[in-house]
Amino acid sequence: MIIAVDGYSACGKSTLAKDLAKELGIVYIDSGAMYRAITLYYLEQREKNPILTIEELPLDQIQIDFIPGHKPIILLNNKDVSDEIRQPSVSDLVSEVSAVSKIRTALVDFQRKIAEGKSIIMDGRDIGSVVFPNADVKLFITAAIDTRAKRRFLELQQRGIQQSLEQIKSNLLKRDQIDSTRSDSPLTQTADAFLIDNTLLNREQQKQVALNIIKSKTNN
Ligand code: CDP
Repeated sequence: MIIAVDGYSACGKSTLAKDLAKELGIVYIDSGAMYRAITLYYLEQREKNPILTIEELPLDQIQIDFIPGHKPIILLNNKDVSDEIRQPSVSDLVSEVSAVSKIRTALVDFQRKIAEGKSIIMDGRDIGSVVFPNADVKLFITAAIDTRAKRRFLELQQRGIQQSLEQIKSNLLKRDQIDSTRSDSPLTQTADAFLIDNTLLNREQQKQVALNIIKSKTNN
């Protein structure tokens, strides 16, 4: 079974996907973490070479590994960068990096490969539209911008990352804008995706709404 979860920045996709993965006994894959890892690599390379453009990134020198689990781990050239990729410096640039086609092509290949032969739930922006257009269930998640900003504020605080609510909100709006308007695989709700607005739903309620949709689609 393949479940695709797409939607706006910080709308609770990964929380929902993790809860569903646990409930259904399937593997959760965070595609955004991969774009964030490449962005971190770009930032590191740009320290050494300030005129390096995103297009010039040597992709053959980047190895990304994703280890699924209760707390998934993302490795960049064998180093655990699971926390570092949540830093504001990465969030600030990740949408520009994700708009580059050769980066998308490489990651989409990788995402399909790690899903091969498994039952998975993957979250991102183009999972239902590009990565798995034949997914068994497609969910499209949204929530009010102020709710999303507050949730991300609390999440970053728990990770020990300080950023003001205003800065977070403007980053989310900027990313939504870039992600929705880029020419390659823009964020979009496909005709066969179920929309869940979780502004007024708590974690358990959003899980139940999604489970009902999954049951109706798969007769499980
Ligand atoms: O968790 P949050 O909603 O902040 O974002 P994320 O899922 O970690 O994704 C970070 C960024 O990666 C997004 O803003 C997109 O620019 C990009 N992304 C993408 O282009 N395609 C995906 N399948 C997943 C993420």
